[in-house]
Amino acid sequence: MTTEVLEQQTEKDLSLRVSNLNVYYGESHILRNVDMNIEKGKMVCLIGRNGVGKTTLLKTIMGLLSPRRGNIYYKDSLLNPQSTDKRVRMGIGYVPQGREIIPRLTVEENLLLGFEALPKGRNGKENIPEEIFELFPVLKSMLSRRGGDLSGGQQQQLSIARALVGKPQLLLLDEPTEGIQPSIILEIEAAVKQIIRETGISVLLVEQHLHFVRQADKYYAMQKGGIVASGDTANLSSEIIQQFLAV
Ligand SMILES: Nc1ncnc2c1ncn2[C@@H]1O[C@H](COP(=O)(O)OP(=O)(O)OP(=O)(O)O)[C@@H](O)[C@H]1O
Ligand SMILES: [Mg+2]
Repeated sequence: MTTEVLEQQTEKDLSLRVSNLNVYYGESHILRNVDMNIEKGKMVCLIGRNGVGKTTLLKTIMGLLSPRRGNIYYKDSLLNPQSTDKRVRMGIGYVPQGREIIPRLTVEENLLLGFEALPKGRNGKENIPEEIFELFPVLKSMLSRRGGDLSGGQQQQLSIARALVGKPQLLLLDEPTEGIQPSIILEIEAAVKQIIRETGISVLLVEQHLHFVRQADKYYAMQKGGIVASGDTANLSSEIIQQFLAV
């Protein structure tokens, strides 16, 4: 079998492929030669200390920042020329760091915004799928509350739920447990695992919470904008944990 055939086969199993990505803020070189593969149906975790470039990578995947060099492929297509909106409609869901729900809108209105991610937007009067409330029951009892009145953990659940309304095939989660109480962390973890199990989507998780990191299939460790270690989370050593997680 030629290498080319092998490559094609691997390509088919990939949800996302990032190749030699270099991103700058002005003249500051932030991401350096980043390579990353995310297989379909897998959860990949990106770890690294504060300020190393994790959010910058997610923003670049979403098209909120443009790489100076390097390519991003989603399934078979090159994403670089696509707008952020297009990437969302192609099936990439994004839950940004700090949640970014709309505080003045109700929980229901926030969730309805998720329909914008569907290729045709919201046709008529679609309802929020019941599965969303099975994952996050607390949201159902709070539909008419304003987003800003929810606790941090509930806002995070709302932010994830809003992304799921758009039926993503790849979900990017940027530190979903930051500043959240432990019981809600476990609920979010369980929900993410359930989503992967039931829908087969792929997840790229940026996370500091070790228990959650361990739920991922693979990890990538970032330092000064470069990937310096990667592998199966089953083999995550205490050295790696100490070096790259703020535990
Ligand atoms: N808008 C910006 N303009 C200039 N520099 C920025 C900007 N945003 C981030 N940076 C810098 O880019 C680097 C990477 O930031 P980034 O937010 O990607 O890190 P991070 O790994 O997500 O950190 P954290 O764990 O704190 O969320 C940091 O040095 C940061 O100061
Ligand atoms: Mg960040």
